[in-house]
Amino acid sequence: MAVNVSPTTIDKRMKKRYALSSHITRILEEAGFKYYEKIYWVKQSGIGKGASNSIKSKNPLYFGVNQHVEEIILVTKGKINAEELKEKLKYKYKTSFFEKHIRPYLSSVWTIYVNPRYRYHQFAFPPKLVEVALNCFTLPGETVLDCFAGGGTTGAVAKTLFRNSILIERKKENISIIRENILKGCNNIQTIKQTDITREIKATYKEVEVEYHEEITDSSV
Ligand SMILES: C[S@@+](CC[C@H](N)C(=O)[O-])C[C@H]1O[C@@H](n2cnc3c(N)ncnc32)[C@H](O)[C@@H]1O
Repeated sequence: MAVNVSPTTIDKRMKKRYALSSHITRILEEAGFKYYEKIYWVKQSGIGKGASNSIKSKNPLYFGVNQHVEEIILVTKGKINAEELKEKLKYKYKTSFFEKHIRPYLSSVWTIYVNPRYRYHQFAFPPKLVEVALNCFTLPGETVLDCFAGGGTTGAVAKTLFRNSILIERKKENISIIRENILKGCNNIQTIKQTDITREIKATYKEVEVEYHEEITDSSV
């Protein structure tokens, strides 16, 4: 599992700053996950235009840093079935694909800038970040879960890489954005079933059948 977090978060109620990734790592370990690795994602260059925060203060006691890095914590859980692993290890990328799409990211620092014009969702991951993560850690045909789906970038990219996806998002207003992103680039889009709380759509993406199933539960606020 990969968990993307900012280095620092502020609990306004407690007036306290937290090193978020250390806290999350401890929580994940308590939940039975094993820490594997950490990747620093450099999401923007320098502190000029395009940086998330402007210079906070000119007073030497109150300099704040612009956060242009996030952390991706990699953890594992459970045992891998030996037979399943044997099958998975048969899958190898072609050398040209490996050199272009994997080798540059065999590093604990991934430099993938956020395009300020990219407007699927205010907190959207750049599609390239999802692409790299899926290429590095999943195989085609596998299922990716994003339980903080936002604008659905994970699902949209998963489809282009021929992975299935399950997305969970608490804001109802994001659902139509997610649907649009998932079906982008698809042909033969047909609604098979539609009620107030479910929608099933069939489509094709590069000759592969896409089955889109949407469900709005009571817990969607
Ligand atoms: C930073 S965005 C995620 C970006 C996203 N992964 C993407 O691919 O673009 C975080 C999203 O998580 C959603 N969220 C926060 N808490 C949640 C929860 N408990 N259950 C489901 N979604 C949640 C927020 O509404 C927000 O849209």
